Amino acid sequence: MSNQTRPDDIHAIELTLANGMTPEEMILRAYDGALVLVPPNKAGIELCEFARGLIEEAFAPYEPTTAQHHLTVDEFVERAGPVKPRFIHHPETRRLQKQYLAELGFDPDRTYLDVPRLRVASSDGYLTSGIGHAQPAHRDTWWSAPKQQIQFWTPVFEMSRYSCMEFFPYYRATPIANSSDNFNIYRWNATGRKNAANYRQGDDKRGIPQPTEDFAATGSVQVVLPVGSMVIFSADQLHATSKNTTGKTRFSIDFRIVDSEHVRDDIGAAMVDNHSTGTALRDFRRICDDTQLPAELIAQNDSGEISDDMVLVFKPEETPALEAAK
Ligand SMILES: [Fe+2]
Repeated sequence: MSNQTRPDDIHAIELTLANGMTPEEMILRAYDGALVLVPPNKAGIELCEFARGLIEEAFAPYEPTTAQHHLTVDEFVERAGPVKPRFIHHPETRRLQKQYLAELGFDPDRTYLDVPRLRVASSDGYLTSGIGHAQPAHRDTWWSAPKQQIQFWTPVFEMSRYSCMEFFPYYRATPIANSSDNFNIYRWNATGRKNAANYRQGDDKRGIPQPTEDFAATGSVQVVLPVGSMVIFSADQLHATSKNTTGKTRFSIDFRIVDSEHVRDDIGAAMVDNHSTGTALRDFRRICDDTQLPAELIAQNDSGEISDDMVLVFKPEETPALEAAK
């Protein structure tokens, strides 16, 4: 891949299909700021169908995408809250994630995988915080993600541009003022992450890193995908949950990987404007044997002080996790 850059490229995003690419090519393109689109495949559809089954079970007898019109906010949270950790930590989920990555050709010896997230983006401001928190624009690197982190995102039900993911070409390689200097993942693990269910409507005040300057006028890319298709992007890519005005709740799955050889060789995205401390590298487990990255690789990417009240790895079995993060 050539690294020649034309002047206008600095405010552009490459959109490219993954067909025929090796995993290494997908990853390097994403580090360089591309959105890599993977068409629906057997394993992707199977992962979505599994999630869909759990969601339908949780909302029965209502159809999940319209259940918000039949339930009070509290009733909705009582159903959506538990289905998130159920999906996230289900053994079948991890099997399906691995199957998906195998179908794309990722190397199980050097690819490390985090548990997925199941997002719930309600329509028209029904849920505005906690488990249904619509993510303001952010880079996951602001959440202590390593520069090698690659993210995968797919909708679970049919979607449109009116309930999608948005990306911001102007800021692909340009810094934006942000509050990531207040974020440390170990502090977040100890406090904010486990309190998601306490927030149902109103401002989410859990110290979520976000822009501190206005960027509304600079335009976005709205990515619309069929179920089981994925958009792959770097943790350093600025992105947001778009405002959902469809009348239907949007459910989506996302998960992250890191390549250990890139961590070892210090290859990754540019880290345009991250000031967070700590590293999320401990969250990842190798595909072939579910082990953590070697301690020395984690240590060389760590930053900031670690105090006694911080938690290095979030342990959902110790708290009723209602994963709202990132
Ligand atoms: Fe994110």
